[in-house]
Amino acid sequence: MDELSIMDMEENQDNDKPPSLSPRPVKPWRVAVIANVKGETILPMNGPADAGAEFDRRETIQAIQDAIETDGHSTIFLPADSNLPFALSQVRPDICFNIAEGIAGDGREAQVPALLEMLGIPYTASRVQANAISLDKTMTKRIWRDNGLPIAEFQEFTDVNEPLSRSLHFPLFVKPAREGTGMGIDDRSIVYNMRELRERVSWILNDYHQPALVEAYLPGREFTIGVLGRSDAALYSPNPELYGSDGFHQFPAEEIDHFRCVTPGVYSHYTKTLALDEEGVPRFICPAPIDAELALTLHRLAVRAHQTIGAVDISRVDMRMNEQGKPCLIEINTLPGLTPDFSDLCVIANASGVNYRKLILEILYLGASRYGMMEPAAHPIPVMQTRIPEYVALRK
Ligand SMILES: Nc1ncnc2c1ncn2[C@@H]1O[C@H](COP(=O)(O)OP(=O)(O)OP(=O)(O)O)[C@@H](O)[C@H]1O
Ligand SMILES: [Mg+2]
Repeated sequence: MDELSIMDMEENQDNDKPPSLSPRPVKPWRVAVIANVKGETILPMNGPADAGAEFDRRETIQAIQDAIETDGHSTIFLPADSNLPFALSQVRPDICFNIAEGIAGDGREAQVPALLEMLGIPYTASRVQANAISLDKTMTKRIWRDNGLPIAEFQEFTDVNEPLSRSLHFPLFVKPAREGTGMGIDDRSIVYNMRELRERVSWILNDYHQPALVEAYLPGREFTIGVLGRSDAALYSPNPELYGSDGFHQFPAEEIDHFRCVTPGVYSHYTKTLALDEEGVPRFICPAPIDAELALTLHRLAVRAHQTIGAVDISRVDMRMNEQGKPCLIEINTLPGLTPDFSDLCVIANASGVNYRKLILEILYLGASRYGMMEPAAHPIPVMQTRIPEYVALRK
């Protein structure tokens, strides 16, 4: 008997079951995990030294496949390269679990979502526009600024000789406008004078072939906040108790204490390559030692940051305190790293009792429910409220 007939049989058996409180998949699915693999994806020529740093390891892809298979689905890994359109038409997955970073271009994290939308194949996490916006840190900050969310002053340089805006004062922080995993970020990202600024901007323009984002340096504590949920998440989650009245799970904040690490004051690319027990690694503290009011402020700020760029279901938002001790948004990762026990989001989830399997399945089922692939819970979840509480704490 082929795989599909087995699925059909199981589906019929499922139909005989009484409705349960928990929502469940309409049938076991064929799930394709789509990713770029370190050392396997071919990179464009002339890239920077740290190109490909955000690609995933085979072990991470396997861990995602294992987690998905525990719930009865079959999985296959498809590399996110130029062969992907052909692979997809052969495999015809029911849904894709997308973690692909993309290969090149100004919106590379949106490449796979764009292809899947064109082919009409469901996929997890954020869609095309949000993935393209979040990769572009300048564009993201413009949207946050327009929505009244707190950010550091900034200026984007496409020409090394551009005059520095009068509203920016040294020290400044300089980084590539469209990278992740700390690419192009080290202790020389903090610049103290015009000569250092020009040198750093010139290096980014030449080596990274993209604009340089120059920001006011935020000297305070740094936090990264996981975002999981949606206004109707509890209706589709196997774990509705995870979601609060805003429809989002409030993860504990993670603090990154990099003040005594190998690149003091900067969560740099190099520190992101170190194992958690290696010399010079920052201290990761989760839950962060902060009071409940600040924890709620950071959660609400992260949710607003996620919503205003149109992200869905999952993300991780980085923020740091300014001189006045107010949290400012740095950037959002709509495809946060999912390396078990290592990536910030996995560490944060573990700290709140959401193990790896649960995290992966939440992302899968929240994604699937947006395509009508899930039956909602038979009974409404009483705590649900569709409106997100206003982001008030910082406006006081
Ligand atoms: N304006 C700033 N002021 C102070 N520190 C900053 C600023 N911008 C970035 N940083 C530091 O650099 C680090 C990396 O910056 P950012 O989060 O923008 O890079 P990334 O490569 O996108 O990170 P990720 O690995 O989360 O994708 C931050 O975690 C923070 O330590
Ligand atoms: Mg970051």
